[in-house]
Amino acid sequence: MCGIVGYIGKRDCADVLMDGLEKLEYRGYDSAGIAVFENNLIKTVKTRGKLACMKEKLETEGKPQGFCGIGHTRWATHGEPSDINSHPHSNGRVTIVHNGIIENYAELKTFLKEKGYAFISQTDSEVVACLLDYYYSERNPLRAITEVVKELRGSFALGILFKDFPDRVYAVRKASPLIVGVGDSEYFIASDIPAFLKYTKNYVLLEDDEIVCMEENGASFFDVHGLEIKKTVQTAEWDVEQAQKQGFPHFMLKEIHEQPKVVEKTLKSIVKNGVPDFSEIGFTDEFMRGINRIFVVACGTAMHAGIIARYAIENLARVPVTVETASEFRYMNPIVDKNDLVILVSQSGETADTKAGLELAKEMGAKTLAVVNVKYSAIARAADMCINTLAGPEIAVASTKAYTVQIAVLYLIAFRLAFARGKINEDELKKLTADIEKAPDAIAAILKKEDECKFIASKLVNVEKLFFIGRGFDYALSLEGSLKLKEITYIHSEAYAAGELKHGTISLIEDGNPVITLATQEDVLPKTISNMEEVKARGATIIAITRKETQFAENTVDMRFDIDNLLPDALTPLATVCALQLIAYYTSVLRGIDPDKPRNLAKSVTTE
Ligand code: F6R
Repeated sequence: MCGIVGYIGKRDCADVLMDGLEKLEYRGYDSAGIAVFENNLIKTVKTRGKLACMKEKLETEGKPQGFCGIGHTRWATHGEPSDINSHPHSNGRVTIVHNGIIENYAELKTFLKEKGYAFISQTDSEVVACLLDYYYSERNPLRAITEVVKELRGSFALGILFKDFPDRVYAVRKASPLIVGVGDSEYFIASDIPAFLKYTKNYVLLEDDEIVCMEENGASFFDVHGLEIKKTVQTAEWDVEQAQKQGFPHFMLKEIHEQPKVVEKTLKSIVKNGVPDFSEIGFTDEFMRGINRIFVVACGTAMHAGIIARYAIENLARVPVTVETASEFRYMNPIVDKNDLVILVSQSGETADTKAGLELAKEMGAKTLAVVNVKYSAIARAADMCINTLAGPEIAVASTKAYTVQIAVLYLIAFRLAFARGKINEDELKKLTADIEKAPDAIAAILKKEDECKFIASKLVNVEKLFFIGRGFDYALSLEGSLKLKEITYIHSEAYAAGELKHGTISLIEDGNPVITLATQEDVLPKTISNMEEVKARGATIIAITRKETQFAENTVDMRFDIDNLLPDALTPLATVCALQLIAYYTSVLRGIDPDKPRNLAKSVTTE
């Protein structure tokens, strides 16, 4: 949830840290801070508020001058956003930045108080700084870190400065991401690669409990016992431009516009000789034939992608699919066994609940398949099989392109499963694959109608609540459209299966309430239209997202957005979602909200 960075080298450290934090601000933005060795003393500047506040503070207070330091951008968990609760935290000899949650911080705090330590913040992180100090003796930082790692429960990625070593940055992680950037006589730590991509594409992945000590002339790695280990340097496939706005006013809009390209790239990475082929990762036809049931376990938008998958897989391949919110799945004592496939869908690959769902599924003997956007993430590495979606870095908090590539991959899985299990023949498989290959054009056609979405948004700016309704794939997509809208506009929105509204929720419909009706599925169209008319009769303003040729009775629809006929019904969510994303985006902007950083949220939810 928080973002951490660290640097040692010849550059102006404060600049490098601030640059890195800017790239990580999507992980949290309620406060920020840096600590840099200046003339062998640690100088810390931190403040409540977005990074812009931090920049102002550095201008007024003066930027620490030095070449070695750590930085943090926070999403508050323990203690409100305030100057005092901001990181870095220090107790004099040790200064740290922390991402994660220390579950046993209360008992450690009691212990440390008994030993004479005093605390000024409400955070769990300050406890780590004190505990490191407690174990620090004989000028041996490594021993202090290994002792502390053994004591901490929960998740952590720590960047650590020891006052006695002004030429070193230490770092360690457990269940929170941390990557070491390897430059030319300069080293970086970061929660995510874009933070140092500008300086180097080479990186080392730290595993749980591994420690790095970075000095200007080298980085050394150690295990939890303090024994030196060898690590492999890898090269990132992402480049700097992908992590920049490239002239768009917001990352979200840029990411919406990237969808034709990233969907095409993702499809191409899987389609071989005109059909989806997953054999490279061991997801073979034989394996597919042996599956009894499928579970899709994920959170938020990724879970909504799972609901699309359910409709696609059950319809085509006739394999029962259960979609579970990861935070429920992990504690519900699910009935899962070795004949089941559990698919974990995640953009970041770090979501704590999804990761726990993966571990549980493995314990229960099921095979696991990750559909993940971040190749080096924990979920990607821990699953039995992994399909890497190729959306590139997604910086805006609200997920857009990651969802679209997730559903593209899940459709391809549905096609291949149906073929492997004899529900469709090779010609039908080829036809479905050719159909989905039209998705980039279908998405591009929607993006051309951006102004129409903006117009619809202009009618939503002042509403207090709205509803999305749809049936089948349209219902699955309504859930995502509604989430997108509410998270970045703060308008209360609910998504309902169109036929379900009248079982209670319709009582909320008042004169003028917008109801966004997704009506793209021919097989249920008359039913959807009837449901639409029911709410219209109760005063709703109807915004229909539909196909060009759909006819409605006079005066039923107040506004309509037409989807071109480029995709068969079952695949329309790939295109329709882009209209919903644009409507949410423009409503947010017109309401004066920063859609990239909506309140209370952060990307990559590494807490339960
Ligand atoms: C909403 C959104 C979240 C994420 C969810 C899971 O726009 O982005 O709902 O989808 O937090 O995150 P990942 O996909 O990283 O596991």
